[in-house]
Amino acid sequence: MCGIMGYIGQRNVVSVLVEGLRRLEYRGYDSAGIAYLSKGEIEVKRSVGKLSSLESILPTIPPVSPAGIGHTRWATHGKPSEENAHPHRAGSLVMVHNGIIENYLSLKKTLQDEGREFTSDTDSEVIIHLIDSFYQKGGSLEKAVQRATEKMHGSYAICVLSEKDPNRLIAVRSGCPLVIGVGKDEQFVASDIPAFLSHTRQVIFLEDNEIALLSSEGVEVHDLKGARLAKEVQQISWDPVMAEKGGYRHFLQKEIHEQPRAIVDTIRGRVAQEAGNVILGASEWVGDPAKDYKRAVLVGCGTSWHAALVGKFLFEQIAGLSVEVDIASEFRYRDPLLSEGDLVIGISQSGETADTLAAMREARSKKTPTLSICNVVGSSISRETDAVFYTHAGPEISVASTKAFTTQLTALTLLAIFLGRKRGRLSKKAGEALIHQLILLPNKIEEILAHEKRIKTIAKHFFRYRDFLYLGRGILYPVALEGALKLKEISYIHAEGYPAGEMKHGPIALIDENMPVVVLALKDKVYEKMISNVMEVKARGGIIIAFAEEGDNDLPGLADEIFFIPKIASVLSPILMTIPLQLLAYYIAFTRGSDVDQPRNLAKSVTVE
Ligand code: AGP
Repeated sequence: MCGIMGYIGQRNVVSVLVEGLRRLEYRGYDSAGIAYLSKGEIEVKRSVGKLSSLESILPTIPPVSPAGIGHTRWATHGKPSEENAHPHRAGSLVMVHNGIIENYLSLKKTLQDEGREFTSDTDSEVIIHLIDSFYQKGGSLEKAVQRATEKMHGSYAICVLSEKDPNRLIAVRSGCPLVIGVGKDEQFVASDIPAFLSHTRQVIFLEDNEIALLSSEGVEVHDLKGARLAKEVQQISWDPVMAEKGGYRHFLQKEIHEQPRAIVDTIRGRVAQEAGNVILGASEWVGDPAKDYKRAVLVGCGTSWHAALVGKFLFEQIAGLSVEVDIASEFRYRDPLLSEGDLVIGISQSGETADTLAAMREARSKKTPTLSICNVVGSSISRETDAVFYTHAGPEISVASTKAFTTQLTALTLLAIFLGRKRGRLSKKAGEALIHQLILLPNKIEEILAHEKRIKTIAKHFFRYRDFLYLGRGILYPVALEGALKLKEISYIHAEGYPAGEMKHGPIALIDENMPVVVLALKDKVYEKMISNVMEVKARGGIIIAFAEEGDNDLPGLADEIFFIPKIASVLSPILMTIPLQLLAYYIAFTRGSDVDQPRNLAKSVTVE
């Protein structure tokens, strides 16, 4: 996810910008750049790779400059390259952008028809040409920015600097964060507070469709019609370490809370809701989806394997495509039987997991088409598969995978809809309805996160127990596995996920008053079976912690603790059901004093066997 930084004031603008971008590195990036005024002209410096590459091309003697902007880019449209790096320039203007402009292609064509030439493949470059096209017609820069936003569909946080108006920065947002740092005779604007926290703790949070005018004298905030808004200046009390975590205690908690945004970013630009279609770029698919495939083989490790298990339900129920799932470390040594019509899909957040990489190489050695679902652009697995479908979760710092998992499920749902429509197994109407449900997901996750304190209370009742059993049926069985994995890997408590129908085949022997049983229940065709499982557990003195659908009237009378999730299409229920389980594991581990972000013995990416 990109990082934006802007500064206007008397300090050394280049060092302020670079230091700010360094504080935003946690957002992940693959190129970086800055632009600053020097002797009345704007200098632009950009480079692929890390900030150290950018620093190597910056002036050794810092220029005297009143203002500048900077950017760390997480590639969405256009590969990581110097040309695609920000800031982008048009005429006397430069700009940095975070977000995705969904209608950039049509805007770009209109601007090209007006004779404008583009130097990048990005959607962002379209914005600065759009602003410049209005600016050139006369009027203020603020007015030009306002008029450009009226044409843009999608999400953006942008900051604009002009050679002709060097004493101001203009910033505007819709759907992406922007925060202003209010200093003494200096102002800052950034994607997140850590970028300028070492300079000022006075902040103004910009809201959607608000435009900010920053000058060394101060900050004005207007609505998009130009009316001035009264904005509160707030005092930030974080220490710098907390600032890196956006005010959260741990990266894990922060990343759990980032899931609505991560899912929005993963969906954005990929759905045509009215047509009930999913749009994939040429590099995001391989072969003819309508007729090339009879089976998909999904492979992954750990949480990514759990995502693959959910993917089986999604591909079979939505696309009518048969699916086999395998743990990558098994697949790579199984000499797997692969044949004409197979597609092997590797799922990996890091894109560097050795077993998953080896599994994809095994598939390629058997001449089977390969697709990967990765979260890191340019990672080994993404480079070694025929196509790659990126999740846009942003960097996942905590070892325990959370937003990566829910964006993997989002990606698998998008791919299932894409396949279902192409294979004629999903009607336009059904596709439209499913896409609508997918678009509702982030808000429903916000509803769950709003009840975080309830989970914290449940965790306080159970953090001393030594064993947990997680039960799910159907599409929620993989979620039971994932919930158990979250708990064991960060709290070091033994936890097992099981298909509830297996209880009589062994696990029921474990049940007594020392064994909390986490039950995941939808009001679906196996609901009554799940109620029977609950009764069996209670009959043996077991404890029930139930996660159920809003409107469930039976489980409250049976469970020792119950937490409700909002209703959603059953194929999307794994994404919602996972959220409270992540929070339960987090608060139990936190209460036990575990190293939540760096659990013992674990690495974020297992690049060795
Ligand atoms: C999950 O919380 C763990 N971090 C681990 O199981 C992880 O999912 C697994 O190592 C796979 O990693 P990948 O998605 O980067 O391939």
